[in-house]
Amino acid sequence: MASPSPLDLADRFTFDGPEPASIANAEEILAVILDPARRGELYPYLRRLQEVEPRLRSDALHGHPAWILCSHADAVAVLSNHALVSDERNAAIFDTGPSGQGFFELMKRTLLYMDPTEHDRIRAMLARHFTPRAISRYEPLMKEVVDGLLDRAAEMGRFDLVADLAYTLPTAVICGIMGVPSDDLPIFHTWLNDFARRGDVSGVTPEVEAAGEAATNGFTDYFLDLIAHRRIHREDDLITVLMESEDDKGKLTDEQLVALCVLMIQAGHETTADMIGLGMLAILRHPDQLELLRADPSLLGNAIDELLRFDGSNQLVQRVSNEDFDLGETRVRAGEVCSILTGAASRDPKRFEEPDRLDIRRRDIQHFGFGGGTHICMGASLARSELSMMIGGLIERFPALELADGPLAYRDSLVLRGLTSLPLRV
Ligand code: HEM
Repeated sequence: MASPSPLDLADRFTFDGPEPASIANAEEILAVILDPARRGELYPYLRRLQEVEPRLRSDALHGHPAWILCSHADAVAVLSNHALVSDERNAAIFDTGPSGQGFFELMKRTLLYMDPTEHDRIRAMLARHFTPRAISRYEPLMKEVVDGLLDRAAEMGRFDLVADLAYTLPTAVICGIMGVPSDDLPIFHTWLNDFARRGDVSGVTPEVEAAGEAATNGFTDYFLDLIAHRRIHREDDLITVLMESEDDKGKLTDEQLVALCVLMIQAGHETTADMIGLGMLAILRHPDQLELLRADPSLLGNAIDELLRFDGSNQLVQRVSNEDFDLGETRVRAGEVCSILTGAASRDPKRFEEPDRLDIRRRDIQHFGFGGGTHICMGASLARSELSMMIGGLIERFPALELADGPLAYRDSLVLRGLTSLPLRV
């Protein structure tokens, strides 16, 4: 069978929902954006919301009114304003009631939703281990894993990038950094997936909630055991370092350590694996950009940021306001949540020329794929390195790399956007 053209592939994602242009009501557009059946079809609806109501006050996400923001200027204004923070009021998005409290409580203790003073303290302890210099120590590990994966791809000839390759690199790297024994990885498989699905803002059914509770308990017991073990047998790894870190407020508690470990392993693997899939799909669907990259590999670093802008694996960042403030003509009241649809802001036509065009030579790419401000992704340098090695490695090693026929599907989620299958041939 001849390989499908990029346009045929676009057809495979067709969502049997309303035409974006036919919906004039902002709440209805948001409902489609949140609809799990929408799957891959996202950007035409984000654009429509941007046109109809770029600052929508809606209770669709939190059960009480919050601002849903779509413009680049608003994203910058919110993320750069220190009166807007991310604390447990934002985590309320995960409060699904008494049967989902374990997950909700754990999320509140992560860096993402911690009280700002505590956040700054713990982030300072952690951040020095994720600087470009600190992570360069893991380059040999990354290279070894990527070389092994490329050999595997060569042997297979035709493979599913998501199922066969994408998760291996980020999982091996974050486990290597933290000091999670690789023999324990199979135990994590289900927990990681169940935890991530529970963390989305749409599609949280009672089954997803129950699986999220089981994953929370599983992770908590696992990391408490590992921490107890490290107290006796210290190692040259991040868990040991964090366990021993001390400042004028003392050491981290076991509860804090567990929340940090869960966040790192969760944040460190799926977003990157998803980005490997989304990034490869985008570049293969733009043969001119692929050729440019092959001709000039020095464009790779810029290409990774353009891929994050064009189709990022994280689509929502939130802040809550500590005081009244004006967003343009709009008054945001103290205590109100601002939810930024980052994929919309990163493709705002008011900020980017031809925003829906992938252009790996684009300059001044200020995207929100890693969020922004005080909570900006702590693993951004690590993720950029992993993406460069994996995406760059596939392109360099396989001159005939192309999309293959076969199932190609998106996950039913909004926040953690990703493919569940991407068949390729080398
Ligand atoms: C392509 C891959 C990745 C994407 C798209 C991504 C995206 C994000 C986003 C959107 C945030 C929230 C930022 C905000 O609220 O402003 C975040 C936070 C975070 N990410 Fe990542 N991330 C990626 C990879 C990683 C990796 C590899 C790690 C490794 C440890 C990591 C660790 C974290 C941590 C610890 C936070 C919380 C930071 C804080 O609240 O201060 N991420 N990430």
